Amino acid sequence: MKTLIIAAHPDLGVSQANRALIDAVKGEQGIFVHDLYAEYPDWNIDVAREHRLLTEHDRIVLQFPFYWYSTPPLLKKWFDDVILSGWAYGPGGYRLKGKEFMVATTAGGTEKSFQAGGDNWYAMSEYLKPIQGTINKCSGVFLPPFVVYDANRADGSRLQQEGRRYAEHIRMPYRVLVH
Ligand SMILES: Cc1cc2nc3c(=O)[nH]c(=O)nc-3n(C[C@H](O)[C@H](O)[C@H](O)COP(=O)(O)O)c2cc1C
Repeated sequence: MKTLIIAAHPDLGVSQANRALIDAVKGEQGIFVHDLYAEYPDWNIDVAREHRLLTEHDRIVLQFPFYWYSTPPLLKKWFDDVILSGWAYGPGGYRLKGKEFMVATTAGGTEKSFQAGGDNWYAMSEYLKPIQGTINKCSGVFLPPFVVYDANRADGSRLQQEGRRYAEHIRMPYRVLVH
């Protein structure tokens, strides 16, 4: 299985959590890390290149720090620019059909806070519904997400542990992930 990680952190230079996740999988066989903010400093996304990358991989991981209950802005722009009618959905748009998509996100909030009655009210899976909807629209397969909670308080050893958990999670076969 060929896995594409589309990483979207506005400043990996100051990141701890996303940096640790990338370090845990970068260079692994079958995994290609595509750093959106590094590739497109002018935000001018090469749509044909993105389409090629998507076509060449079986599983796409969207990795980002959770910002205001959503994605950082360049990843939102990536969706707007790349997920096109006639290519990804709509008449003649079948290129993502059956492809596996997974969100990997890091959040400042604790896991306990992301539930009814908690500080963040809803589970992470609720906040990810716009992405899930987009993948469903393209007949892709939306897999259970990988989430690092309480990310700003993670020390080096927890970040390493999360990195190992990430490496396992993104390699898990569909059947294991969904049951
Ligand atoms: C602009 C901004 C918005 C944020 N919004 C949220 C949020 O809505 N919920 C949350 O749990 N954490 C939020 N955070 C915390 C980040 O998710 C957290 O700092 C990040 O995941 C840590 O990852 P990093 O070390 O790779 O930067 C926000 C941080 C920033 C800078």
